[in-house]
Amino acid sequence: MTTTTAPRTAARVVDAVKVYGSGDTAVRALDGVSVAFPAGRFTAIMGPSGSGKSTLMHCAAGLDTLTSGTAHIGDTELGSLDDRRLTLLRRERVGFVFQAFNLVPTLTVAENIRLPLDLAGDRGDPEWIDALIDVVGLRDRLHHRPAQLSGGQQQRVAVARAFAGRPDVVFADEPTGNLDSRSGEEVLGLLGGAARETRRTVVMVTHDPGAAAHADEVVFLADGRLVDRMTAPTAEKVLDRMKAFEGPSSREAPAPVEVPS
Ligand SMILES: Nc1ncnc2c1ncn2[C@@H]1O[C@H](COP(=O)(O)OP(=O)(O)O)[C@@H](O)[C@H]1O
Ligand SMILES: [Mg+2]
Repeated sequence: MTTTTAPRTAARVVDAVKVYGSGDTAVRALDGVSVAFPAGRFTAIMGPSGSGKSTLMHCAAGLDTLTSGTAHIGDTELGSLDDRRLTLLRRERVGFVFQAFNLVPTLTVAENIRLPLDLAGDRGDPEWIDALIDVVGLRDRLHHRPAQLSGGQQQRVAVARAFAGRPDVVFADEPTGNLDSRSGEEVLGLLGGAARETRRTVVMVTHDPGAAAHADEVVFLADGRLVDRMTAPTAEKVLDRMKAFEGPSSREAPAPVEVPS
């Protein structure tokens, strides 16, 4: 057994800067963000549209690279990996849930859940996967294909798939964005439940205060910067905090043109 140490960090970025494009059209999507996601916790990244949430998640997860600064999964600095090792790390240590479900239409539910393991040539842990199927409530749908499922059920498949390989961290980008509020609540409950039951780390991007309230902690982004953190969030507290940002200085999607001083 290992001895007790300070809470581990599952993922983090340090001084993260991400600039899209160049010259006049450059967008500074991340403007010097440092944030750590503690192991075993469910953290929500909250902020208005265009604040850099997806960019932060993609860079933290190794789906995209930073312009400067570093991103780490556990003790591994992602910038130190070549493409092959980065692909392996994503496959073995990271799970993903996307707004658009991203299931393979020709595969059954069971095959979709096993897909990351099958791609890795990994048998996985049959008991773990069996337990996950119950967590997401899909035992009677295992031989269905995605088109035969509701949106909420499809996203539950995606949640099971994300956890199938016992990843260190599961990243979810607006996982309830395509769901009605009831299915959304179900998926959020599962995401939180799966995180707690399996002691995995979940990092979820959302612009919905109700969704963020399912997390253990919320970090707030505005204009590419980390502006606040909140533990024990409620939808009301998150909404109040968001309102405080949405003064005249906030921006919706297209970045403002630089005004000469
Ligand atoms: N591939 C891209 N090319 C150019 N600009 C982008 C790209 N992706 C995102 N952006 C810009 O970066 C900023 C942050 O985007 P994003 O991370 O998607 O925000 P959020 O997820 O919070 O809505 C926005 O201004 C957006 O328009
Ligand atoms: Mg986004």
